[in-house]
Amino acid sequence: MSIKPLIILPDPLLRQVSKPVERVDSHLLKFAGDMLDTMYDAPGIGLAAIQVGEPLRLVVIDIAKEGEPQAPQIFFNPEIVATGEGTNVHEEGCLSIPDYYAEVQRPDTVTVRYVDKDGKQQEMVADGLMATCLQHEIDHLNGVLFIDHISKLKRDMVMRKFKKLARTA
Ligand code: NI
Repeated sequence: MSIKPLIILPDPLLRQVSKPVERVDSHLLKFAGDMLDTMYDAPGIGLAAIQVGEPLRLVVIDIAKEGEPQAPQIFFNPEIVATGEGTNVHEEGCLSIPDYYAEVQRPDTVTVRYVDKDGKQQEMVADGLMATCLQHEIDHLNGVLFIDHISKLKRDMVMRKFKKLARTA
């Protein structure tokens, strides 16, 4: 079990576009395990590799509710190949933007193509919280944060707060 330090706003790393994973090997699987440990410790329900400083297209998610058995999922090179026509509003937060939450509107269903832990290509259709979570995490791989989906006024407020926190840390 290894918990990695989280990258926090306004670290410019969060704006970096992550590179595709070329091959799923034991080293990468161990790293994904460390990401899950870090996510559970935080605690959170999703984490992208860039949030622990690795610009790789790798996401881990576990949306199991408290009291339910853990249901970790690992996505290498996840890509949204289709979105539903409806939208959903969920309150989102981010381990890289601690203690800030805002409602974000996104497509209510997504089809995601990804490579699984065995190196096999898979496709998943997700709705509800899973759809939101996948979109939030895949955004991270492209340097996009959930605050980019809220009003500029609110985003500027959050940025000011975290810049000030970084200065006084
Ligand atoms: Ni996030």
